[in-house]
Amino acid sequence: MDKLVISGGKKLKGRVSISGAKNAAVAILPAAALCDEVCRIENIPNISDINLMCRILSDMGANVKMINNNTIEIDPTHMISNSAPHDLMKNMRASSYLLGVLLGKFGEANVCLPGGCDFGVRPIDQHLKGFSALGAECNLNGGIINVRADKLVGAHIYLDVVSVGATMNIMLAAVRAEGLTVLENAAKEPHIVDLANFLNCMGADISGAGTDVIKIRGVKRLKGTTYSIIPDQIEAGTYMAIAAATKGDVIIENVIPKHLESITAKLEEMGIDLTIDDDAIRVSCSGRIKKCNIKTMPHPGFPTDMQPQITALLSTADGTSMVNEAVWDNRFRYIDELRRMGANISVDGRVAVIEGVDKLIGAPVKAVDLRAGAALVLAGLCAEGTTTIESIHHIERGYENIIEKLQNIGADIKKISCEDDKSGESVG
Ligand code: EPZ
Repeated sequence: MDKLVISGGKKLKGRVSISGAKNAAVAILPAAALCDEVCRIENIPNISDINLMCRILSDMGANVKMINNNTIEIDPTHMISNSAPHDLMKNMRASSYLLGVLLGKFGEANVCLPGGCDFGVRPIDQHLKGFSALGAECNLNGGIINVRADKLVGAHIYLDVVSVGATMNIMLAAVRAEGLTVLENAAKEPHIVDLANFLNCMGADISGAGTDVIKIRGVKRLKGTTYSIIPDQIEAGTYMAIAAATKGDVIIENVIPKHLESITAKLEEMGIDLTIDDDAIRVSCSGRIKKCNIKTMPHPGFPTDMQPQITALLSTADGTSMVNEAVWDNRFRYIDELRRMGANISVDGRVAVIEGVDKLIGAPVKAVDLRAGAALVLAGLCAEGTTTIESIHHIERGYENIIEKLQNIGADIKKISCEDDKSGESVG
């Protein structure tokens, strides 16, 4: 079991380049299986969730070739299976996208109930509602979901909940359906638009992605293409919060500032200095940050995937802040870990009340999920003394080269393995 060891208190300075968006890439890779030609996908983040998705696709007969660390070619011409490998699938939420892809490609999909970060109940009823409307039969048996249709026919679908996963999955199935699908109350995240752009490059006919009504006119055939994934909005936001927490001065490069507006607005409200360029944002901070209230919402609201990092940042703000988690039932499990580091935070249901403290103190802590792990990295970097973070596989699911990127801007952070850990017990 690897751990991160962070010696906090360094002001970070320099440049960080943002990788491709995880939540776009985990949908675009399986989407490539919808055509019968080779797709080349660039700017893919080199993270464990992507490795897992590549293994799933290979296991199903696709030829997945790594051209370099961030470019992958997928040749799905020999894919014959409509069943995804259950042992690999259960660890990953995005594996549910294979339902839409296999249903669109073969008219049938067998996929086990998806895993992923544990935020309480994570239903997929809206995905299944969409597939049913397109004419599929959906059955759950022994943890395996079977969706099957003799023919998919376009339909008018209204989502009861704004869901990223359901929006993507329904688009994936509907691109090969007969006729027009109108998806209302759709999610509007940048990764939804990226998936639609990728599918359109393959010859799909999708309009309205990025608004709450998406129209998908089914096509008979999709062709191979070359496509580059957008930068990761949440990775960018995480480094912006880290720069501010360490009272640093960091230029975050390769970003789309438009995708970051809800985050930049809140950082400015906290008194953090931002200089926004075409594709870079400079973040600098000297004094203590101001308190701030935040409510998470679907895009263009403040993203739930930045909630733990911003809560960690506010834990040393001047005054009392409130963070309302309005997307997930249970996304405050990491607060106990921040408390070990001296944060003064109380949680009542979906609301965290953060009494800013003067400083955090390094402590042994555990990442309970991906963004919770990122929040602890932020806390460790600004805390006094040494922080060790366990269960870092969660962090590696979503942040490419996080250690090197942080070291390059002056952080004292390293990964130790179990053996190093024994010899290095004096570290702590
Ligand atoms: C995606 O999850 C992201 N994952 C999550 O990011 C992110 O937190 C979430 O969207 C919200 O932005 C990926 O893209 C792989 P949802 P997803 O369907 O699609 C309810 C990260 O840290 N709901 O938009 O699973 C659900 O319970 C990860 O990178 C239903 O009720 O999220 C939740 O309250 C973690 N029925 C809300 O909708 C459904 O059928 C939003 O979920 C589906 C969802």
